[in-house]
Amino acid sequence: MSDASTRSESVVQSANGSTKTPHINAETYAQMYDASVSQPDVFWGEHGQRIDWIKPFTKVKNTSFEPGNIDIRWFEDGTLNASANCIDRHLATRGDQTAIIWEPDDTSKQEPLHITYNDLHRSVSKMANVLKDLGVEKGDRVIIYLPMIPEAAYAMLACARIGAIHSIVFAGFSPDALGARVNGCGAKLVITADYAPRGGRETPLKSNTDTALLHCDDDVQCLVVKRTGGQTTWTDRDHDYNKLAEIASDDCPAVEMNAEDPLFILYTSGSTGQPKGVVHTTGGYMVYASMTHELVFDYHDGDIFWCTADVGWVTGHSYIVYGPLANGATTIMFEGVPTYPDAGRFWEVCEKHKVNQFYTAPTAIRALMGAGNEWVEKYDLSDLRVLGSVGEPINPEAWNWYNDVVGKGRCPIVDTFWQTETGGHMLTPLPGATELKPGSAQQPFFGVQPVVLEPTSGEIIEGNGVDGVLCMRDSWPGQMRTVWGDHERFEKTYFSDYKGYYFSGDGCRRDEDGDYWITGRVDDVINVSGHRMGTAEVESALVAHAKVAESAVVGYPHDVKGQGIYAYVTLMNGEEPSDELRKELEVWVRTEIGPIAKPDLIQWAPGLPKTRSGKIMRRILRKIAEDDFGSLGDTSTLADPSVVDDLIANRMNRG
Ligand code: WT7
Repeated sequence: MSDASTRSESVVQSANGSTKTPHINAETYAQMYDASVSQPDVFWGEHGQRIDWIKPFTKVKNTSFEPGNIDIRWFEDGTLNASANCIDRHLATRGDQTAIIWEPDDTSKQEPLHITYNDLHRSVSKMANVLKDLGVEKGDRVIIYLPMIPEAAYAMLACARIGAIHSIVFAGFSPDALGARVNGCGAKLVITADYAPRGGRETPLKSNTDTALLHCDDDVQCLVVKRTGGQTTWTDRDHDYNKLAEIASDDCPAVEMNAEDPLFILYTSGSTGQPKGVVHTTGGYMVYASMTHELVFDYHDGDIFWCTADVGWVTGHSYIVYGPLANGATTIMFEGVPTYPDAGRFWEVCEKHKVNQFYTAPTAIRALMGAGNEWVEKYDLSDLRVLGSVGEPINPEAWNWYNDVVGKGRCPIVDTFWQTETGGHMLTPLPGATELKPGSAQQPFFGVQPVVLEPTSGEIIEGNGVDGVLCMRDSWPGQMRTVWGDHERFEKTYFSDYKGYYFSGDGCRRDEDGDYWITGRVDDVINVSGHRMGTAEVESALVAHAKVAESAVVGYPHDVKGQGIYAYVTLMNGEEPSDELRKELEVWVRTEIGPIAKPDLIQWAPGLPKTRSGKIMRRILRKIAEDDFGSLGDTSTLADPSVVDDLIANRMNRG
């Protein structure tokens, strides 16, 4: 047993002497877990009380994974407001406490802001009134395309306050991706900013929005927040947020919402087609986000919590905004990147704001590990108590570095496995309750019932020391409810391969002790720097280029990003491969989707390996991209086996 595992059994303590008795220990975990799955109505009926209801619920769980009738409802007759749960209910007890610490990209230009719950109440109410004045009503969709500035949180909570459904588009996405999402959810309004400073560079969000809206309805309006004050063009549909907020009232009652009214839509990539709009509703999501935030990070009153994600991803929704604020926490919103102005930035911020819980992605840990220990050692990290990891499997080397160098061997690491679809953590250790194992997400959170299935037969694999695909036997309150506008796609994507179960898309191993290890996606989704990417999306961007005839995209192991994007490209007849064309295609994909989708390697493929019925054999392409072509298996069923030799001879990833 390692030091790390024995340590997590006792107390969770920071080096500055503050010791906290963890909320959950091994015994209470076992007892509560049993209760959560044997009597979900009783368990969630009790924990559903952790948030404030306007009209209390009388029904707890009403869920069906039955083919043809996928129907998920939690607390369905209760009413509440998410914004009031994150703000109003704290005002009497902690109005002057800091709710949000905003850490700007460049502190030589601006100081961090400390926004109290009273401030938050005022700003969110003003933003809500601005939205109302622009005609936004309960049930309307609002796209948020903002940098990591306080206004992003205000916008989310303002929508929630008036019952509008927000859909955040990560500021790194292109105008095309933005336009597709505006149209996809039929948004009435886009909230954006002039520019998004990040890592010392500026993304022109307003001009991106102008471009995106060329392909949208004329009556879509645009609300523009001033971030840098840089020059932008102005059109008839634009409204100046700062001017409107100045004159708006700071009194805006929170509307009564049903537990099952949508709170937000978040687009995410899948194995086929274009990104789908994951719908989360209000009651179950708030219960689940706040409970996981408190227990998984062992959050205690007065702690300073920092999740380094962007609000454009679900991690930012649940663990920068909704979970922490529902718990009355102080949450940090960081505008910058881990390596600007230097590789000490994360640790400088941890020292400055006395961070107690720190939550980031393995890709950032690996990048900072590569920068050297001296960057960490420059700073006083004695307030840290719990470290978190999310987004992809964490390799033991990175885990150990995180544990030893950042956590000084005394901060439990919670490796949290979850998804946009799950709303909150699914598999994770709990600080003080779980004996830690580097690289394993370990145990289900309360109410989560993982099962391992045999991939082809779909049979349940019982017992330990087994591998298969990861499914969930029953619903949990944070589960997505549908795909926006396409309930059939919801059923097809998550409930049709393995009937009666929610299918995660991930492979997993349950080890001899019953701990879970995520082995990666088993579908055509790849995970690049913790960002999820559908290979089909990158392919369709590539074939949209006039010189490209066909393309196949796969992932390959990448030291820092986890997975890199490997694109096989077949050119149109008569087109010549060249380094210029390679550059051109890279730029093309960046502009079609965004910088995160840029292929790392492009191989010119005279042909792709296909079966006689024309299906691309991705298994072979993955192997070649992994530089592991010794075990390609049977290639004799290919229409033209010789293309494989060419692909191997000209492979891009050697060693
Ligand atoms: C996919 C979900 C919600 C978290 C941010 C990503 C992978 C996520 C882990 C982990 C191994 C992980 C899975 C999952 N993943 N966390 N701790 N260990 N893999 O959310 O974009 O919806 O991606 O990320 O493959 O299916 P997402």
